[in-house]
Amino acid sequence: MAKDVAAKKTAANDAAIEASRGHFSSKIGFIMAAAGSAVGLGNIWGFPTKVAENGGAAFLLIYLLMVFVLAFPMLVAELAIGRYGQGNPIASLRSVWQGKRWAPLLWGGLAMLVASLILSFYSIVAGWLIAFAAEPVFSGLGLMEQAGWLTEFSTARNASMAVIFSLLTIWVVSQGVADGIEKWSTRLMPLLFVLFAGMIVYMMTLDGASQGLTTYLVPDFSQVDARLLVDAMGQAFFSLSLGVGAMMVYGSYLKKDVNLPKVATQVAIIDTSVAFAAGLLVIPAMFVAKHNGVEIFNDAGDLISSGDLVFQVLPALFDTMGASGPFIAVIFFVLMMIAALTSSISLLEVPVSCAQDELGMARKTSSWVIGLAIIVISLVICLNFGTLFGLVVDFTTVYMQPALGIIWALVVGWVWHRNELLHELQQGNPELAQGWFWKIWPWYVRFVCPVAIAAVIFVSVS
Ligand code: TRP
Repeated sequence: MAKDVAAKKTAANDAAIEASRGHFSSKIGFIMAAAGSAVGLGNIWGFPTKVAENGGAAFLLIYLLMVFVLAFPMLVAELAIGRYGQGNPIASLRSVWQGKRWAPLLWGGLAMLVASLILSFYSIVAGWLIAFAAEPVFSGLGLMEQAGWLTEFSTARNASMAVIFSLLTIWVVSQGVADGIEKWSTRLMPLLFVLFAGMIVYMMTLDGASQGLTTYLVPDFSQVDARLLVDAMGQAFFSLSLGVGAMMVYGSYLKKDVNLPKVATQVAIIDTSVAFAAGLLVIPAMFVAKHNGVEIFNDAGDLISSGDLVFQVLPALFDTMGASGPFIAVIFFVLMMIAALTSSISLLEVPVSCAQDELGMARKTSSWVIGLAIIVISLVICLNFGTLFGLVVDFTTVYMQPALGIIWALVVGWVWHRNELLHELQQGNPELAQGWFWKIWPWYVRFVCPVAIAAVIFVSVS
């Protein structure tokens, strides 16, 4: 009862700020939207690819460690900065960094650029999802040539699909927060879970699956090296949408009566479960595909870890399903496309919200101007795929995201006044000061996060 009253009071106090901005209309709406941002290609494409590249279960274990030891504390930090500032990342940083004009602009601006670069390659991979969703439809209509074009790697295919996906993203973002993001995220995620579960169960009945299961779940620690560490850290930051201010933006749309550490935990658990399930699906599926004659290993016996491995393995799995295969393939790729869309909109939201507030641009204008500029970058990457794609992915996700994470950790740990921070987190969590979270997290973010992130980056480049 007393809690209710207190919550209502806080809500009333904040009504003035909240009225001026769009907010998530419900807690579950936020969790679904933030989980929607987190769950995407990082889970179904990035994670299994990295597991395959790094030899299986050892990567899985280190990844789990990175999520809970480094990424989760940073998720709370980013959400807190955003909700405190109630603005775009630059504005939110400015309100934490009182009196500083250039630092928030510099770091917020850098975050914005990295977000845009991530979106530029994200659209290309998401475009592949569109192609693979359309392929069974074209085959079904007997349009074999077109179907072949869709699934075959080519500059024209990559570029046109990336443009289609980008236009979808721009369109959703230009519609605004509440009806854009929330509506998409809340409805379809559960369906994706169910489909995953069904596919995993089915796949376990196929020859070769058990060998994949062993690779995925029985660790070989001789595989652990500096590259694996930095890959796992980058993957954790990527999967939880950290570093570039996306979670700051989402935090800023969050009401003051929400318990931040709790929703952050929920989001991290949902995201990690989906990644784990995707690995459970894709890694054994590789071995099933191998059993069925698809080339998965090179002559040296290593998994071929090309960027589109997942897109060879899953269609091969659908092929084993007989008549129902094409239908399941369409449903799967469409749902994945929507999951990718709820992620890409959170990426575009970063520069768009900055332009909207800082430059006073209308949402529609800033969505289109920035979105079209990002399409141009995507096209440049498509035209130089061999040289640029891997480079941009590595530069942004493996290095820049964690590096920006160091900055946010320093801001929260050293710049933000401890009492202000406590007050921010206490809203929605009145007992916070007595609990273990508050005993550990502030010094953890202050010392452990920056040092550990820097150390991992350092060992990997030295
Ligand atoms: N986390 C998303 C995924 O796993 C991608 C994503 C959305 C992202 N927003 C982000 C990655 C911000 C980095 C930063 O697919």
